[in-house]
Amino acid sequence: MPSIDPAPVKIDFTKYFSIESKTRKRSQLKELRPYFDIPGMISFGVGIPHPSTWPVNGMTLSVPFAGKSVYVPGYENRSPEDMLPLTSYTEPKKGEDLFPDLTSELQYSSTYGTPHLLGWIKEHIKRVHNPPYDEWQNLSTAGNTDGTDAILRACFDRGDYLLVEEFAYPGLLSPAATLGINCLGVPLDKEGLIPEALDEILTNWDEKERGGPRPKMLLVVPTCSNPAGVTIPVHRKREIYSVCRKWDLLITEDDPYCFLQIRPNGAASPIVPSFLSLDTDGRVLRIDSFSKIVAPGSRLGWITGHKTIVEKIMNTRESATQCPSGFSIAAIAAILRVWGSHDGFENKYIPHVSEIYSKRCLMMIDLLKKHVPSEAIEIPEGSGGMFLWVRLKIESHPSFPKEDPDKISKKVFQSLIEEKVLMAPSEFFKAPSISSWSKEEEAKRSFVRISFSLPPQDEMEEGCKRMGRALAKEWNVNVNA
Ligand SMILES: Cc1ncc(COP(=O)(O)O)c(C=O)c1O
Repeated sequence: MPSIDPAPVKIDFTKYFSIESKTRKRSQLKELRPYFDIPGMISFGVGIPHPSTWPVNGMTLSVPFAGKSVYVPGYENRSPEDMLPLTSYTEPKKGEDLFPDLTSELQYSSTYGTPHLLGWIKEHIKRVHNPPYDEWQNLSTAGNTDGTDAILRACFDRGDYLLVEEFAYPGLLSPAATLGINCLGVPLDKEGLIPEALDEILTNWDEKERGGPRPKMLLVVPTCSNPAGVTIPVHRKREIYSVCRKWDLLITEDDPYCFLQIRPNGAASPIVPSFLSLDTDGRVLRIDSFSKIVAPGSRLGWITGHKTIVEKIMNTRESATQCPSGFSIAAIAAILRVWGSHDGFENKYIPHVSEIYSKRCLMMIDLLKKHVPSEAIEIPEGSGGMFLWVRLKIESHPSFPKEDPDKISKKVFQSLIEEKVLMAPSEFFKAPSISSWSKEEEAKRSFVRISFSLPPQDEMEEGCKRMGRALAKEWNVNVNA
Protein backbone atom coordinates (compact mmCIF):
# COMPACT_ATOMS: atom_id res chain seq x y z
CA MET A 1 0.00 0.00 0.00
CA PRO A 2 1.73 3.24 -1.07
CA SER A 3 1.90 5.88 1.63
CA ILE A 4 1.64 9.60 0.95
CA ASP A 5 4.87 11.43 1.76
CA PRO A 6 3.73 13.92 4.45
CA ALA A 7 6.05 16.65 3.04
CA PRO A 8 3.69 18.86 1.03
CA VAL A 9 4.34 19.37 -2.69
CA LYS A 10 3.98 23.00 -3.69
CA ILE A 11 1.19 23.64 -6.18
CA ASP A 12 0.96 26.56 -8.58
CA PHE A 13 -2.81 27.09 -8.43
CA THR A 14 -2.87 29.77 -11.10
CA LYS A 15 -2.36 27.21 -13.86
CA TYR A 16 -5.75 25.68 -13.02
CA PHE A 17 -7.70 28.89 -13.55
CA SER A 18 -9.87 29.16 -16.65
CA ILE A 19 -9.71 32.21 -18.88
CA GLU A 20 -13.16 33.04 -17.46
CA SER A 21 -11.64 33.02 -13.95
CA LYS A 22 -8.58 35.00 -14.89
CA THR A 23 -10.50 37.68 -16.71
CA ARG A 24 -13.60 37.92 -14.55
CA LYS A 25 -14.25 41.48 -13.42
CA ARG A 26 -15.82 41.75 -10.00
CA SER A 27 -18.45 44.38 -9.37
CA GLN A 28 -16.63 47.31 -7.79
CA LEU A 29 -19.31 47.39 -5.10
CA LYS A 30 -18.36 43.87 -3.93
CA GLU A 31 -14.94 45.18 -3.07
CA LEU A 32 -16.50 47.38 -0.37
CA ARG A 33 -17.74 44.31 1.54
CA PRO A 34 -14.64 43.74 3.73
CA TYR A 35 -15.00 47.30 5.02
CA PHE A 36 -18.48 46.58 6.40
CA ASP A 37 -16.96 44.27 8.97
CA ILE A 38 -14.63 46.89 10.43
CA PRO A 39 -16.01 47.60 13.93
CA GLY A 40 -17.56 51.06 14.21
CA MET A 41 -17.72 51.66 10.45
CA ILE A 42 -20.64 53.85 9.38
CA SER A 43 -21.53 52.84 5.87
CA PHE A 44 -23.26 54.90 3.26
CA GLY A 45 -21.72 52.55 0.74
CA VAL A 46 -24.45 50.26 -0.52
CA GLY A 47 -28.22 50.08 -0.65
CA ILE A 48 -29.37 46.96 1.12
CA PRO A 49 -32.83 46.44 2.66
CA HIS A 50 -33.56 47.45 6.24
CA PRO A 51 -34.15 44.42 8.52
CA SER A 52 -37.21 46.11 10.05
CA THR A 53 -38.88 45.45 6.71
CA TRP A 54 -38.45 41.64 7.02
CA PRO A 55 -42.02 40.34 7.23
CA VAL A 56 -40.79 37.48 9.44
CA ASN A 57 -40.32 37.76 13.19
CA GLY A 58 -39.15 34.21 13.64
CA MET A 59 -39.44 30.72 12.25
CA THR A 60 -40.92 27.79 14.11
CA LEU A 61 -39.69 24.37 13.09
CA SER A 62 -40.88 21.06 14.43
CA VAL A 63 -37.67 19.08 14.61
CA PRO A 64 -37.49 15.48 15.83
CA PHE A 65 -34.41 15.12 17.98
CA ALA A 66 -31.24 13.48 16.71
CA GLY A 67 -31.72 9.80 15.99
CA LYS A 68 -35.30 10.19 14.80
CA SER A 69 -37.02 10.79 11.46
CA VAL A 70 -40.18 12.54 10.45
CA TYR A 71 -43.12 10.16 10.57
CA VAL A 72 -44.41 9.58 7.02
CA PRO A 73 -47.44 7.28 6.85
CA GLY A 74 -46.84 4.42 4.42
CA TYR A 75 -43.07 4.52 4.80
CA GLU A 76 -43.05 2.18 7.80
CA ASN A 77 -40.56 4.30 9.67
CA ARG A 78 -41.84 4.12 13.22
CA SER A 79 -44.91 5.68 14.75
CA PRO A 80 -45.78 9.32 15.48
CA GLU A 81 -45.42 8.61 19.23
CA ASP A 82 -41.89 7.37 18.63
CA MET A 83 -40.98 10.81 17.28
CA LEU A 84 -41.43 12.57 20.62
CA PRO A 85 -38.29 14.41 21.70
CA LEU A 86 -35.87 12.68 24.04
CA THR A 87 -34.58 15.94 25.43
CA SER A 88 -36.46 19.12 26.15
CA TYR A 89 -35.91 22.23 24.08
CA THR A 90 -33.62 24.88 25.50
CA GLU A 91 -33.77 28.56 24.64
CA PRO A 92 -30.77 29.61 22.52
CA LYS A 93 -28.31 31.83 24.34
CA LYS A 94 -27.04 34.90 22.52
CA GLY A 95 -23.59 34.29 21.01
CA GLU A 96 -23.76 30.50 21.27
CA ASP A 97 -22.66 28.36 18.33
CA LEU A 98 -25.50 28.36 15.74
CA PHE A 99 -27.38 31.13 17.56
CA PRO A 100 -30.35 31.91 15.29
CA ASP A 101 -30.23 35.47 14.03
CA LEU A 102 -32.78 36.23 11.33
CA THR A 103 -31.62 39.84 11.13
CA SER A 104 -28.37 38.71 9.55
CA GLU A 105 -29.57 35.42 8.01
CA LEU A 106 -32.18 37.22 5.89
CA GLN A 107 -29.81 40.02 4.86
CA TYR A 108 -27.45 39.80 1.86
CA SER A 109 -24.48 37.93 3.28
CA SER A 110 -20.95 37.32 2.14
CA THR A 111 -20.88 34.88 -0.80
CA TYR A 112 -18.84 32.56 1.44
CA GLY A 113 -21.87 32.29 3.76
CA THR A 114 -23.05 33.60 7.12
CA PRO A 115 -20.44 33.53 9.91
CA HIS A 116 -22.33 31.27 12.34
CA LEU A 117 -22.98 28.49 9.80
CA LEU A 118 -19.50 28.86 8.31
CA GLY A 119 -18.08 28.46 11.82
CA TRP A 120 -20.08 25.28 12.27
CA ILE A 121 -18.95 23.93 8.86
CA LYS A 122 -15.31 24.69 9.62
CA GLU A 123 -15.46 22.86 12.94
CA HIS A 124 -17.34 19.96 11.31
CA ILE A 125 -14.65 19.62 8.60
CA LYS A 126 -11.92 19.69 11.26
CA ARG A 127 -13.65 17.02 13.34
CA VAL A 128 -14.52 14.68 10.46
CA HIS A 129 -11.77 15.21 7.86
CA ASN A 130 -9.05 17.25 9.59
CA PRO A 131 -7.27 18.38 6.37
CA PRO A 132 -3.49 18.04 6.90
CA TYR A 133 -2.65 21.60 5.77
CA ASP A 134 -3.62 25.01 7.09
CA GLU A 135 -4.78 27.19 4.21
CA TRP A 136 -8.15 25.58 3.59
CA GLN A 137 -11.38 27.47 3.46
CA ASN A 138 -15.11 26.83 3.05
CA LEU A 139 -17.63 28.31 0.68
CA SER A 140 -21.37 27.81 1.13
CA THR A 141 -23.18 26.58 -1.97
CA ALA A 142 -26.73 25.75 -3.00
CA GLY A 143 -25.81 22.03 -2.92
CA ASN A 144 -23.41 19.86 -4.88
CA THR A 145 -24.90 20.61 -8.31
CA ASP A 146 -24.16 24.26 -7.67
CA GLY A 147 -20.74 23.42 -6.18
CA THR A 148 -19.75 21.34 -9.21
CA ASP A 149 -20.90 24.03 -11.63
CA ALA A 150 -18.84 26.61 -9.75
CA ILE A 151 -15.71 24.44 -9.84
CA LEU A 152 -16.10 23.72 -13.56
CA ARG A 153 -16.54 27.40 -14.35
CA ALA A 154 -13.58 28.43 -12.20
CA CYS A 155 -11.14 25.88 -13.62
CA PHE A 156 -12.07 24.89 -17.15
CA ASP A 157 -12.01 26.43 -20.60
CA ARG A 158 -13.84 25.00 -23.60
CA GLY A 159 -11.90 22.06 -24.98
CA ASP A 160 -10.22 21.19 -21.66
CA TYR A 161 -10.35 17.60 -20.42
CA LEU A 162 -11.82 16.38 -17.12
CA LEU A 163 -11.27 12.81 -15.95
CA VAL A 164 -14.30 11.11 -14.43
CA GLU A 165 -15.39 7.59 -13.54
CA GLU A 166 -16.22 5.50 -16.63
CA PHE A 167 -19.81 5.34 -15.39
CA ALA A 168 -20.48 8.82 -14.05
CA TYR A 169 -23.30 10.91 -12.63
CA PRO A 170 -25.26 12.40 -15.57
CA GLY A 171 -25.74 15.56 -13.51
CA LEU A 172 -22.01 16.08 -14.09
CA LEU A 173 -21.69 14.84 -17.67
CA SER A 174 -24.33 17.07 -19.21
CA PRO A 175 -23.37 20.41 -17.61
CA ALA A 176 -19.72 19.68 -18.39
CA ALA A 177 -20.61 19.05 -22.04
CA THR A 178 -22.58 22.30 -22.08
CA LEU A 179 -19.50 24.18 -20.95
CA GLY A 180 -17.49 22.54 -23.75
CA ILE A 181 -15.51 20.37 -21.31
CA ASN A 182 -14.43 16.94 -22.59
CA CYS A 183 -15.09 14.30 -19.95
CA LEU A 184 -13.07 11.13 -20.23
CA GLY A 185 -13.93 7.99 -18.27
CA VAL A 186 -11.39 6.06 -16.21
CA PRO A 187 -12.18 2.32 -15.85
CA LEU A 188 -13.63 1.03 -12.57
CA ASP A 189 -13.48 -2.24 -10.69
CA LYS A 190 -15.14 -3.40 -7.46
CA GLU A 191 -13.11 -0.88 -5.43
CA GLY A 192 -13.90 2.04 -7.71
CA LEU A 193 -11.58 3.97 -10.01
CA ILE A 194 -8.47 1.98 -10.98
CA PRO A 195 -5.28 3.99 -10.24
CA GLU A 196 -3.18 2.10 -12.81
CA ALA A 197 -5.73 2.91 -15.52
CA LEU A 198 -5.64 6.58 -14.47
CA ASP A 199 -1.84 6.59 -14.67
CA GLU A 200 -1.91 4.89 -18.07
CA ILE A 201 -4.25 7.50 -19.54
CA LEU A 202 -2.02 10.31 -18.28
CA THR A 203 1.24 8.59 -19.30
CA ASN A 204 0.00 8.04 -22.85
CA TRP A 205 -1.60 11.46 -23.24
CA ASP A 206 -1.02 12.80 -26.72
CA GLU A 207 -2.14 16.42 -27.07
CA LYS A 208 -2.34 16.23 -30.85
CA GLU A 209 -4.38 13.05 -30.85
CA ARG A 210 -6.70 14.29 -28.06
CA GLY A 211 -6.88 17.84 -29.40
CA GLY A 212 -6.33 19.28 -25.95
CA PRO A 213 -3.91 19.57 -23.04
CA ARG A 214 -3.49 16.90 -20.36
CA PRO A 215 -6.47 16.89 -17.95
CA LYS A 216 -6.25 19.24 -14.95
CA MET A 217 -8.60 17.42 -12.68
CA LEU A 218 -10.10 14.10 -11.66
CA LEU A 219 -13.68 14.24 -10.39
CA VAL A 220 -14.95 11.26 -8.40
CA VAL A 221 -17.93 10.33 -6.26
CA PRO A 222 -15.95 8.43 -3.63
CA THR A 223 -18.68 7.11 -1.34
CA CYS A 224 -21.68 4.94 -2.33
CA SER A 225 -21.17 6.38 -5.79
CA ASN A 226 -23.85 7.31 -8.25
CA PRO A 227 -24.36 5.13 -10.26
CA ALA A 228 -21.90 2.39 -9.28
CA GLY A 229 -22.70 2.24 -5.54
CA VAL A 230 -19.00 1.79 -4.71
CA THR A 231 -17.10 3.25 -1.77
CA ILE A 232 -13.41 3.66 -2.58
CA PRO A 233 -11.35 2.13 0.27
CA VAL A 234 -8.64 4.27 1.80
CA HIS A 235 -5.72 2.23 0.36
CA ARG A 236 -7.17 2.87 -3.14
CA LYS A 237 -7.62 6.57 -2.34
CA ARG A 238 -3.93 6.81 -1.43
CA GLU A 239 -2.96 5.25 -4.75
CA ILE A 240 -5.24 7.60 -6.69
CA TYR A 241 -3.88 10.59 -4.75
CA SER A 242 -0.31 9.57 -5.59
CA VAL A 243 -1.11 9.36 -9.31
CA CYS A 244 -2.81 12.78 -9.19
CA ARG A 245 0.22 14.21 -7.41
CA LYS A 246 2.54 12.65 -10.04
CA TRP A 247 0.62 14.38 -12.83
CA ASP A 248 -0.27 17.48 -10.79
CA LEU A 249 -4.02 17.00 -11.07
CA LEU A 250 -6.60 18.51 -8.77
CA ILE A 251 -9.10 16.05 -7.28
CA THR A 252 -12.73 16.99 -6.80
CA GLU A 253 -14.57 14.65 -4.44
CA ASP A 254 -18.31 15.05 -4.91
CA ASP A 255 -19.39 13.29 -1.73
CA PRO A 256 -23.11 13.74 -1.03
CA TYR A 257 -23.47 10.11 0.13
CA CYS A 258 -20.52 10.29 2.54
CA PHE A 259 -22.65 9.69 5.62
CA LEU A 260 -24.90 7.07 4.05
CA GLN A 261 -22.17 4.42 3.97
CA ILE A 262 -22.89 1.22 5.85
CA ARG A 263 -21.62 1.55 9.42
CA PRO A 264 -22.15 -1.82 11.10
CA ASN A 265 -21.71 -0.40 14.60
CA GLY A 266 -23.28 3.02 14.08
CA ALA A 267 -21.24 5.90 15.50
CA ALA A 268 -18.60 3.42 16.70
CA SER A 269 -17.72 2.51 13.08
CA PRO A 270 -15.58 5.29 11.61
CA ILE A 271 -16.35 6.48 8.08
CA VAL A 272 -13.84 5.68 5.33
CA PRO A 273 -11.28 8.54 5.32
CA SER A 274 -11.96 11.10 2.60
CA PHE A 275 -9.54 12.41 -0.05
CA LEU A 276 -9.58 15.69 1.89
CA SER A 277 -8.28 13.94 4.97
CA LEU A 278 -5.25 12.71 2.93
CA ASP A 279 -4.61 16.02 1.22
CA THR A 280 -1.21 17.34 2.25
CA ASP A 281 -0.89 19.53 -0.86
CA GLY A 282 -4.25 21.34 -1.03
CA ARG A 283 -5.14 19.64 -4.34
CA VAL A 284 -8.55 18.33 -3.19
CA LEU A 285 -11.80 20.20 -3.63
CA ARG A 286 -14.40 18.53 -1.48
CA ILE A 287 -18.10 19.19 -2.06
CA ASP A 288 -20.64 18.38 0.64
CA SER A 289 -24.39 18.80 0.69
CA PHE A 290 -27.25 18.70 3.17
CA SER A 291 -29.41 17.20 0.38
CA LYS A 292 -29.09 13.52 1.29
CA ILE A 293 -28.80 13.92 5.04
CA VAL A 294 -31.24 16.71 5.88
CA ALA A 295 -33.38 17.50 2.81
CA PRO A 296 -32.71 18.07 -0.91
CA GLY A 297 -35.05 21.08 -0.85
CA SER A 298 -32.73 22.83 1.59
CA ARG A 299 -30.43 23.61 -1.37
CA LEU A 300 -27.51 24.09 0.93
CA GLY A 301 -24.02 22.66 0.85
CA TRP A 302 -20.40 23.71 0.98
CA ILE A 303 -17.01 23.39 -0.69
CA THR A 304 -13.74 22.86 1.14
CA GLY A 305 -10.42 23.49 -0.56
CA HIS A 306 -7.28 25.59 -0.74
CA LYS A 307 -8.21 29.23 -0.15
CA THR A 308 -6.56 30.41 -3.38
CA ILE A 309 -8.79 28.27 -5.54
CA VAL A 310 -11.87 28.59 -3.30
CA GLU A 311 -11.68 32.36 -3.80
CA LYS A 312 -11.91 31.89 -7.59
CA ILE A 313 -14.83 29.50 -7.12
CA MET A 314 -16.51 32.04 -4.83
CA ASN A 315 -16.17 34.66 -7.59
CA THR A 316 -18.30 32.53 -9.92
CA ARG A 317 -21.13 32.41 -7.33
CA GLU A 318 -20.89 36.10 -6.47
CA SER A 319 -22.35 36.87 -9.87
CA ALA A 320 -24.72 33.88 -9.90
CA THR A 321 -26.40 32.93 -6.62
CA GLN A 322 -24.86 35.95 -4.79
CA CYS A 323 -25.15 34.23 -1.40
CA PRO A 324 -26.90 31.15 0.01
CA SER A 325 -30.60 31.32 0.93
CA GLY A 326 -31.01 32.90 4.37
CA PHE A 327 -34.24 31.00 5.04
CA SER A 328 -32.41 27.77 4.37
CA ILE A 329 -29.47 28.72 6.57
CA ALA A 330 -31.82 29.74 9.39
CA ALA A 331 -33.67 26.44 9.19
CA ILE A 332 -30.59 24.22 8.93
CA ALA A 333 -28.80 26.09 11.72
CA ALA A 334 -31.86 25.65 13.96
CA ILE A 335 -32.08 21.93 13.16
CA LEU A 336 -28.38 21.38 13.86
CA ARG A 337 -28.75 23.24 17.13
CA VAL A 338 -31.72 21.13 18.24
CA TRP A 339 -29.76 17.96 17.48
CA GLY A 340 -26.98 19.09 19.81
CA SER A 341 -24.57 20.65 17.30
CA HIS A 342 -21.56 18.50 16.33
CA ASP A 343 -21.94 15.68 18.80
CA GLY A 344 -25.66 15.21 18.12
CA PHE A 345 -25.16 15.48 14.36
CA GLU A 346 -22.19 13.13 14.07
CA ASN A 347 -22.97 10.62 16.78
CA LYS A 348 -26.76 10.44 16.88
CA TYR A 349 -28.36 11.80 13.74
CA ILE A 350 -25.91 10.64 11.05
CA PRO A 351 -25.68 7.02 12.26
CA HIS A 352 -29.50 7.00 12.40
CA VAL A 353 -29.83 8.10 8.73
CA SER A 354 -27.10 5.75 7.58
CA GLU A 355 -28.90 2.87 9.34
CA ILE A 356 -32.14 3.59 7.43
CA TYR A 357 -30.36 3.33 4.05
CA SER A 358 -28.10 0.44 5.13
CA LYS A 359 -31.16 -1.64 6.03
CA ARG A 360 -32.76 -0.84 2.68
CA CYS A 361 -29.55 -1.72 0.84
CA LEU A 362 -29.21 -5.09 2.57
CA MET A 363 -32.92 -5.80 2.14
CA MET A 364 -32.68 -5.13 -1.61
CA ILE A 365 -29.69 -7.49 -1.88
CA ASP A 366 -31.66 -10.24 -0.10
CA LEU A 367 -34.71 -9.69 -2.32
CA LEU A 368 -32.62 -9.83 -5.50
CA LYS A 369 -31.01 -13.07 -4.31
CA LYS A 370 -34.43 -14.49 -3.51
CA HIS A 371 -36.31 -13.54 -6.66
CA VAL A 372 -33.88 -13.01 -9.54
CA PRO A 373 -32.17 -15.99 -11.21
CA SER A 374 -28.44 -16.03 -10.52
CA GLU A 375 -27.85 -17.05 -14.16
CA ALA A 376 -28.84 -13.51 -15.17
CA ILE A 377 -27.28 -11.12 -12.67
CA GLU A 378 -24.25 -10.53 -10.49
CA ILE A 379 -25.21 -8.78 -7.25
CA PRO A 380 -22.65 -6.44 -5.66
CA GLU A 381 -21.82 -6.40 -1.97
CA GLY A 382 -23.44 -2.99 -1.48
CA SER A 383 -21.86 -0.18 0.48
CA GLY A 384 -24.98 1.76 1.50
CA GLY A 385 -26.12 5.00 -0.12
CA MET A 386 -29.04 4.73 -2.50
CA PHE A 387 -27.89 2.52 -5.37
CA LEU A 388 -26.98 -1.02 -6.28
CA TRP A 389 -25.07 -1.53 -9.52
CA VAL A 390 -26.21 -4.91 -10.71
CA ARG A 391 -24.36 -6.58 -13.58
CA LEU A 392 -26.37 -8.27 -16.29
CA LYS A 393 -24.59 -11.49 -17.31
CA ILE A 394 -24.92 -10.73 -21.02
CA GLU A 395 -22.12 -13.23 -21.72
CA SER A 396 -24.53 -16.05 -20.75
CA HIS A 397 -27.63 -14.63 -22.47
CA PRO A 398 -28.93 -17.07 -25.14
CA SER A 399 -28.50 -14.45 -27.89
CA PHE A 400 -24.79 -13.90 -27.13
CA PRO A 401 -22.48 -13.86 -29.11
CA LYS A 402 -24.78 -13.90 -32.12
CA GLU A 403 -26.10 -10.46 -31.17
CA ASP A 404 -24.19 -7.42 -29.94
CA PRO A 405 -24.09 -6.93 -26.14
CA ASP A 406 -25.56 -3.47 -26.59
CA LYS A 407 -28.53 -4.81 -28.50
CA ILE A 408 -29.12 -7.56 -25.91
CA SER A 409 -29.00 -5.03 -23.04
CA LYS A 410 -31.63 -2.92 -24.80
CA LYS A 411 -33.84 -5.99 -25.27
CA VAL A 412 -33.47 -6.88 -21.57
CA PHE A 413 -34.42 -3.33 -20.63
CA GLN A 414 -37.57 -3.61 -22.78
CA SER A 415 -38.49 -6.90 -21.04
CA LEU A 416 -38.16 -5.19 -17.65
CA ILE A 417 -40.43 -2.38 -18.86
CA GLU A 418 -42.98 -4.93 -20.10
CA GLU A 419 -43.00 -6.46 -16.60
CA LYS A 420 -43.46 -2.92 -15.26
CA VAL A 421 -40.28 -2.55 -13.30
CA LEU A 422 -37.99 0.38 -13.98
CA MET A 423 -34.27 0.71 -13.42
CA ALA A 424 -31.61 2.84 -15.09
CA PRO A 425 -29.46 1.08 -17.73
CA SER A 426 -25.71 1.67 -17.66
CA GLU A 427 -25.71 3.40 -21.04
CA PHE A 428 -27.25 6.47 -19.32
CA PHE A 429 -24.06 6.90 -17.31
CA LYS A 430 -21.34 6.00 -19.81
CA ALA A 431 -18.66 8.69 -20.01
CA PRO A 432 -16.70 9.01 -23.26
CA SER A 433 -13.83 6.55 -23.15
CA ILE A 434 -10.51 5.88 -24.85
CA SER A 435 -10.55 2.22 -23.86
CA SER A 436 -11.58 -0.27 -26.49
CA TRP A 437 -13.28 -3.46 -25.37
CA SER A 438 -13.70 -6.78 -27.18
CA LYS A 439 -17.23 -8.14 -27.64
CA GLU A 440 -16.64 -10.53 -24.66
CA GLU A 441 -15.41 -7.66 -22.45
CA GLU A 442 -18.30 -5.46 -23.58
CA ALA A 443 -20.71 -8.27 -22.59
CA LYS A 444 -19.38 -7.96 -19.02
CA ARG A 445 -19.89 -4.21 -18.86
CA SER A 446 -23.66 -4.00 -18.88
CA PHE A 447 -25.34 -2.97 -15.62
CA VAL A 448 -28.58 -1.62 -14.24
CA ARG A 449 -28.71 0.93 -11.45
CA ILE A 450 -31.29 -0.09 -8.88
CA SER A 451 -32.29 2.63 -6.47
CA PHE A 452 -33.57 1.36 -3.12
CA SER A 453 -33.95 4.66 -1.32
CA LEU A 454 -37.66 5.32 -1.76
CA PRO A 455 -40.06 2.40 -2.45
CA PRO A 456 -42.00 0.87 0.43
CA GLN A 457 -40.90 -2.63 1.43
CA ASP A 458 -43.76 -4.43 -0.35
CA GLU A 459 -42.98 -2.59 -3.60
CA MET A 460 -39.31 -3.53 -3.27
CA GLU A 461 -40.31 -7.19 -3.09
CA GLU A 462 -42.84 -6.96 -5.93
CA GLY A 463 -40.30 -5.11 -8.11
CA CYS A 464 -37.72 -7.87 -7.56
CA LYS A 465 -40.31 -10.53 -8.43
CA ARG A 466 -41.08 -8.72 -11.69
CA MET A 467 -37.38 -8.39 -12.43
CA GLY A 468 -36.99 -12.11 -11.75
CA ARG A 469 -39.79 -12.96 -14.20
CA ALA A 470 -38.43 -10.67 -16.94
CA LEU A 471 -34.89 -12.00 -16.66
CA ALA A 472 -35.94 -15.64 -16.37
CA LYS A 473 -37.73 -15.21 -19.69
CA GLU A 474 -34.75 -13.47 -21.27
CA TRP A 475 -32.19 -16.00 -20.06
CA ASN A 476 -34.53 -18.89 -20.67
CA VAL A 477 -34.25 -20.23 -17.11
CA ASN A 478 -36.73 -21.05 -14.34
CA VAL A 479 -38.24 -18.31 -12.21
CA ASN A 480 -36.93 -18.59 -8.63
CA ALA A 481 -39.32 -20.45 -6.35
C1 LIG B 1 -23.10 12.25 -7.30
C2 LIG B 1 -24.08 13.34 -7.05
N1 LIG B 1 -23.66 14.61 -7.01
C3 LIG B 1 -24.51 15.62 -6.79
C4 LIG B 1 -25.86 15.40 -6.62
C5 LIG B 1 -26.78 16.56 -6.41
O1 LIG B 1 -26.69 17.00 -5.09
P1 LIG B 1 -27.35 18.37 -4.59
O2 LIG B 1 -28.78 18.09 -4.26
O3 LIG B 1 -26.54 18.70 -3.39
O4 LIG B 1 -27.22 19.37 -5.68
C6 LIG B 1 -26.35 14.09 -6.65
C7 LIG B 1 -27.80 13.83 -6.45
O5 LIG B 1 -28.46 13.03 -7.01
C8 LIG B 1 -25.44 13.04 -6.88
O6 LIG B 1 -25.86 11.76 -6.93
